[in-house]
Amino acid sequence: METHVLDRPPEGAAADWTIPQGWERYTAEEHATWDTLFARQAKLLPGRASNAWLKGLDVLRLDRPGIPNFEELSDRLEALTGWRVIAVPGLVPDDVFFDHMANRRFVAGNFIRRPDQLDYLQEPDVFHDVFGHVPMLSDPVFADYLAAYGRGGQRALGLDALKYLGRLYWYTVEFGLVAEPEGLRIFGAGIVSSASESRFALDDPSPDRITLDLARVMRTEYRIDDFQQNYFVIPSFDELLRLTVETDFAPLYEALKQQPDIPVATIVEGDELVTRGTQDYARGKGWQG
Ligand code: PHE
Ligand code: FE
Repeated sequence: METHVLDRPPEGAAADWTIPQGWERYTAEEHATWDTLFARQAKLLPGRASNAWLKGLDVLRLDRPGIPNFEELSDRLEALTGWRVIAVPGLVPDDVFFDHMANRRFVAGNFIRRPDQLDYLQEPDVFHDVFGHVPMLSDPVFADYLAAYGRGGQRALGLDALKYLGRLYWYTVEFGLVAEPEGLRIFGAGIVSSASESRFALDDPSPDRITLDLARVMRTEYRIDDFQQNYFVIPSFDELLRLTVETDFAPLYEALKQQPDIPVATIVEGDELVTRGTQDYARGKGWQG
């Protein structure tokens, strides 16, 4: 979940917090950083990323060299699912974030990480946001899911339940896995944009991989500074959309407020395990990458 640091748009930002991407200001070195990251992930992801993500990369022509121009990318994306990509200065307030999302505007950072920090990210940069997230937005079902999530976020704000809904974002949009006919695949942007986690999440014996259950996910804590020790698996995007849209979250939030949170790497009654993790990584034994 992206949370905010400021409560009013900084100098140079519009009232809705957007800023120009400033595409013409990227240096050759910045475009080269994108190309380096792209080449590394593009090699890893066939057979690992979900078909929807791979198809998105292709139809949006994200394989062209250099940092994509948001206007051009948005024109292609909008024709497919109605979404556009807009630039914001880092993190924005929750209500702003949800309003953009509910209206199919995906907020993205416009800066790119430094070449000496390819694996280090304090705030989501343009590679995470565009390479990680945007391919999924070309999938009509996922596109509907994220817009519905934006409306759900506006509602959760009023119900004081953002903690719960934020975990659903974390474990689907950022770190979700999907069971495809050919096997488990990644669709979470936090995984597809990471060289190490795109291997760890699928191949390593350490993490638990658990079939997604809404209440279970929304009770589960998460770590923002390390590989996940549990991933949640959806059967399909249709099923994720159906489940989240057809469920009224208000009574669920009320029930969750009466229950303890679940720490990471914990199996609870009712869990359907796709793979049970050894948790060796969590115990400091490293991983097989
Ligand atoms: N159905 C949810 C609610 O009642 C909203 C939602 C939709 C949340 C899709 C997440 C994803 O609040
Ligand atoms: Fe993200």
